[in-house]
Amino acid sequence: MGRATRSSILLLCLVVVCGGNLYQDLSITWGDGRAKIIGAGNLLTLSLDKFSGSGFQSKNEYLFGKIDMQMKLIPGNSAGTVTAYYWSSEGDGRDEIDMEFLGNLSGDPYTLHTNIYAQGKGDREQQFHLWFDPTADFHTYSILWNPSHIVISVDGIPVREFRNMESKGIPYPKNRPMRIYSSLWNADQWATRGGLVKTDWSRAPFVASYRSFKADACVWAAGRPAPCSISAANSARFSQKLDPPSLQRLKWVQRNYMIYNYCTDAKRFPYGLPPECSIS
Ligand SMILES: *[C@@H]1O[C@H](CO)[C@@H](O)[C@H](O)[C@H]1NC(C)=O
Repeated sequence: MGRATRSSILLLCLVVVCGGNLYQDLSITWGDGRAKIIGAGNLLTLSLDKFSGSGFQSKNEYLFGKIDMQMKLIPGNSAGTVTAYYWSSEGDGRDEIDMEFLGNLSGDPYTLHTNIYAQGKGDREQQFHLWFDPTADFHTYSILWNPSHIVISVDGIPVREFRNMESKGIPYPKNRPMRIYSSLWNADQWATRGGLVKTDWSRAPFVASYRSFKADACVWAAGRPAPCSISAANSARFSQKLDPPSLQRLKWVQRNYMIYNYCTDAKRFPYGLPPECSIS
């Protein structure tokens, strides 16, 4: 076990696996009725119109774990819209793990935009097209965050891994709990083809749907702490690296579906690529 893993055993939290009732796990945070949990709590919808977007967050904060959510993105012409789904800490110099889905004209591919912030420092964008139509059906989007690495996956296929490289002086999020957030908003200044394609408000409201929130994660239980069984090192959520088949799949995605990688954008970093880019 690495230094990071050992020290985190000292942190206090509680492991939960939950799923099913969205009323229990999520709170609507904004949008004046545009975000809704429906029926018995198995479906949540966010909507966006000319006046406002909407959003929700997880009730719990977590320190490490894996959260899966099924999402079905805005069908048809979604150009100009962004559906963001991310982990974030609070306060200054925040940690954040982002998935943002940038809409497009009907028939043109959605872009999955990702970024990772540690102690306020981001600029680690990677973008992907998907190998399926994310508006036709629900698919599972997951973010694993543990002391060793962060893995963003789609339908169980890893699209991005960010390893803990603290030993090489690269900050890694590990001290502050994070919450899950999601929001749907208008970003037609930049989202689609760099802002060339604007939101067509005659198509509003735009609706994205969510179901099957599953947190296999350590709840940060401020005030009522319980030791988190993070020492269960063989459990997948605390795995220290991708197994060979997962690594193969990651390579497949990166080879065939990655459309932007900050690590190869030499123009953007005239004084040299970020240090993590040269660590394999
Ligand atoms: C939209 O479609 C165009 C054309 O296929 C593609 O280049 C672009 O990456 C797509 N996504 C966004 C968000 O612009």
